[in-house]
Amino acid sequence: MYPQLLIGLLVLGGARGLRQTRALLEDDLYQEDSNLEVSQVPTSRKIPKGGQNSDAETDCPIEFDRKCTCTWENSRLYPNLHETRNLVVNCSNAGITNASFLEFLPTKTAKLIFTGNNVPVLEPNLFGKRDYPYLAYIDLSNNHIKEIKGKAFHHVSTVTVLRLNDNEISNESIHDHIRVFSNFFNLRALFLNDAFNDEIWSLSDLGGIFEESNLTRLEKLHLESNEIGIIRDPKLFCDLISLRELYLRNNHLPDLNIDVDCLPNLSYIDLANNYIRKIPPHYALFGLLNRVNSKGEDLRLDLSKNPFHCDCELQPFIDWVRNTTYHSPDRIHHREKLLCESGLPESNTGLLIEKLLHEVFSPYCKLQFMGSSTLPLTSRKSKQKLPTFDMQAPI
Ligand SMILES: *[C@@H]1O[C@H](CO)[C@@H](O)[C@H](O)[C@H]1NC(C)=O
Ligand SMILES: *[C@@H]1O[C@H](CO)[C@@H](O)[C@H](O)[C@H]1NC(C)=O
Ligand SMILES: *[C@@H]1O[C@H](CO)[C@@H](O)[C@H](O)[C@H]1NC(C)=O
Ligand SMILES: *[C@@H]1O[C@H](CO)[C@@H](O)[C@H](O)[C@H]1NC(C)=O
Ligand SMILES: *[C@@H]1O[C@H](CO)[C@@H](O)[C@H](O)[C@H]1NC(C)=O
Ligand SMILES: *[C@@H]1O[C@H](CO)[C@@H](O)[C@H](O)[C@H]1NC(C)=O
Repeated sequence: MYPQLLIGLLVLGGARGLRQTRALLEDDLYQEDSNLEVSQVPTSRKIPKGGQNSDAETDCPIEFDRKCTCTWENSRLYPNLHETRNLVVNCSNAGITNASFLEFLPTKTAKLIFTGNNVPVLEPNLFGKRDYPYLAYIDLSNNHIKEIKGKAFHHVSTVTVLRLNDNEISNESIHDHIRVFSNFFNLRALFLNDAFNDEIWSLSDLGGIFEESNLTRLEKLHLESNEIGIIRDPKLFCDLISLRELYLRNNHLPDLNIDVDCLPNLSYIDLANNYIRKIPPHYALFGLLNRVNSKGEDLRLDLSKNPFHCDCELQPFIDWVRNTTYHSPDRIHHREKLLCESGLPESNTGLLIEKLLHEVFSPYCKLQFMGSSTLPLTSRKSKQKLPTFDMQAPI
């Protein structure tokens, strides 16, 4: 319960926001399902039935044909903080191939778990045409979703968490239904981990959906594991003006060229396990390292598990890493996991970046690179053949 408590408070914002943001970044919480429950209340109270014409066995509407369960949970769910009982509709792993019965979703539903089914297309008005004043949380992960029709989501203005992880949403779907998230005015966390089919290698393909979608309250955006290798438009996230945490772990990014001036509250970027080999001073990423947001918070980055090539060129970054050791909170999340995957001298391979010494490089460095933005060719020539990476990102 404790992690949910923290996450809930984060969303409540205010003076406590800062501390909660940091707690959120701990590994165990990062894994945690952020369902924004803030507290539990005693279970002794009699729990009402699902309403409408309920099936006696599942408490769900009879139209659900026993595919789901409908249970009242004693909890508080953001933003319905005055409610202590929330209706949870759970349709997990039920072999569902046609989701049209969701038009009979009980109007009091607060949390919908619809995962592990096989629904390639989300049709218009997925939840029918009624209002859902308590709907706060929707999980549609792992359903082989390829296309989300433009008007699939209506009456979702109260939803704060939407999960679409592990689907196969196509490039065409994104282009044809650019306003797909336009009714989620209150969304705080959007999970799109491995949500797209393999053709979406450029984050720019997603640009329109943020621009057209009124996600002005979104604080957490998860885009992990999408094979993203390139960002063409640095202003891609600028419409997400409340963004605090951006998760781009497990992609193919060699650098991160995004405009953060338009994101005053951004405080954390997860870039772990991408294709970052070097961070010379002219890289956008180098600029990001010293960013402070409008609240005076340092931007924190997770750069662990990237294939750093530890040679002269990495020296400015290495200096930066070592210079910031005593900064609190640490601007580098998982500092202890910043390792050299290769290096010159080769003996740097496998070493911890912050432990590398200037002297190690000196025989290999023809010039002092501190502050310089280009590498002399002589130094390039002297290097052995560099390992190659499949960037998968055609120009
Ligand atoms: C939903 O139901 C599935 C299968 O019955 C169960 O494993 C899962 O824990 C349930 N999830 C929630 C959030 O209740
Ligand atoms: C899904 O079920 C509804 C109602 O039974 C039906 O009208 C619709 O054609 C079905 N859709 C598909 C793709 O089979
Ligand atoms: C995605 O779709 C757009 C527009 O239809 C197209 O220009 C682009 O090339 C597509 N990208 C890929 C990788 O197919
Ligand atoms: C949603 O965004 C569109 C275009 O960005 C804008 O025209 C519209 O006024 C916005 N609606 C709300 C309710 O913010
Ligand atoms: C940034 O955070 C502060 C404090 O949490 C909040 O008051 C403010 O509205 C946020 N700004 C934006 C643009 O979301
Ligand atoms: C690291 O600190 C040293 C000494 O304060 C300074 O000269 C150097 O510019 C700093 N380097 C970076 C990359 O911040």
